[in-house]
Amino acid sequence: MGMPFTELAVRNVLSGFQDPETGRSTVQLEQIHKLQLGDKKLSVTLGLTTWAAPLWEAMREELGALLKSRFPDVAIDVTVEEHHRPAEPSGNLGLTAKTVLTVGAGKGGVGKSSIASYLACGLARSGAKVGLMDADVYGPSVPHLFGIQDTPRLQGGKIQPIEMAGVKILSMGLLIPPDQAVVWRGPMLHKALQQFVSDTAWGDLDYLVVDMPPGTGDVALSLAQFLVVTGAIIVCTPQDVALLDATKAVSMFRNLKINVLGMVENMSFFLCPTCSSRHEIFGCGGVKRRAAEMGVPLLGEVPLDTQLRILGDEGRVFASFDHAPTRSYLEAIPQTLVKNLVAARRSKPVMPTLPLL
Ligand SMILES: Nc1ncnc2c1ncn2[C@@H]1O[C@H](COP(=O)(O)OP(=O)(O)O)[C@@H](O)[C@H]1O
Ligand SMILES: [Mg+2]
Repeated sequence: MGMPFTELAVRNVLSGFQDPETGRSTVQLEQIHKLQLGDKKLSVTLGLTTWAAPLWEAMREELGALLKSRFPDVAIDVTVEEHHRPAEPSGNLGLTAKTVLTVGAGKGGVGKSSIASYLACGLARSGAKVGLMDADVYGPSVPHLFGIQDTPRLQGGKIQPIEMAGVKILSMGLLIPPDQAVVWRGPMLHKALQQFVSDTAWGDLDYLVVDMPPGTGDVALSLAQFLVVTGAIIVCTPQDVALLDATKAVSMFRNLKINVLGMVENMSFFLCPTCSSRHEIFGCGGVKRRAAEMGVPLLGEVPLDTQLRILGDEGRVFASFDHAPTRSYLEAIPQTLVKNLVAARRSKPVMPTLPLL
């Protein structure tokens, strides 16, 4: 069974296929190219934006399966190519980023900076345009994790972020000597954060990931005044105490009217390098349960792994993706996040698609 295999029928099926970024018909947005029908053969090129890069493979499979379900006797070949769609201003300081993500936690040492770095690197590895802003002005550790020694250059009156592993990075740690303690008063802190956004040549970004300081909401409050924050990601560890802190962090962001996109459980279990088995030192399932109680999705879990700590200390956090035992855990986080962002958009009413004639 199936539909008659005609170009009109194919176009009708394609017109119902939504672009993940906009939720609109890929046909209406002219993202379907090189449509070729042969004798029981169909090949189509689907243009997708770099914002959706973590989902490219999934979308290719989804479109292939959709076409196959309608034209079961036809050999189907779907190719994905890049479709350019510029970012619009996010806030009033000239930053052009499609999605702004803050990574926070109730307390320090849970792996916020590591998770923010994994997220930024994971998004960039799939092909998205990514910036990483270290807003932990009290303890900036992003330069250490990426092994950055250089001081950012000033060009045309703008700070040039340092590019590492495809991620554009800026941190207070790059502007102030590392051994110098900084005491920020409220207004100075606000001004410094503003400059991070307005005076930095971020360019056109799909994602700006912001590594937040632990605890108090002053940085989040400042950022929310001049940035459109898409949402917060909360990092926690499985111990009960840390969970309480995570609960506080969730309610802090909610009080600030910042959407909580999900939790990441770090140091979930110990991946033993000798026996490669999983040791659940702090028990299992606690974060998932708590996240569900708070109505927050769990975006992923990252094992406690000696190699991750070593790579962080060596300034090669980006190489964590080459460490086979943890790779799939690290890759799952950006994928789940972007899937959820897409699902949230799809649940909103989208523009109706007109039948094609
Ligand atoms: N999953 C993990 N496995 C091993 N070490 C980790 C893991 N996550 C973080 N670390 C290490 O723990 C320390 C603190 O992490 P960091 O990301 O700086 O935390 P935070 O930003 O919350 O203070 C770093 O040395 C880091 O390399
Ligand atoms: Mg940190």
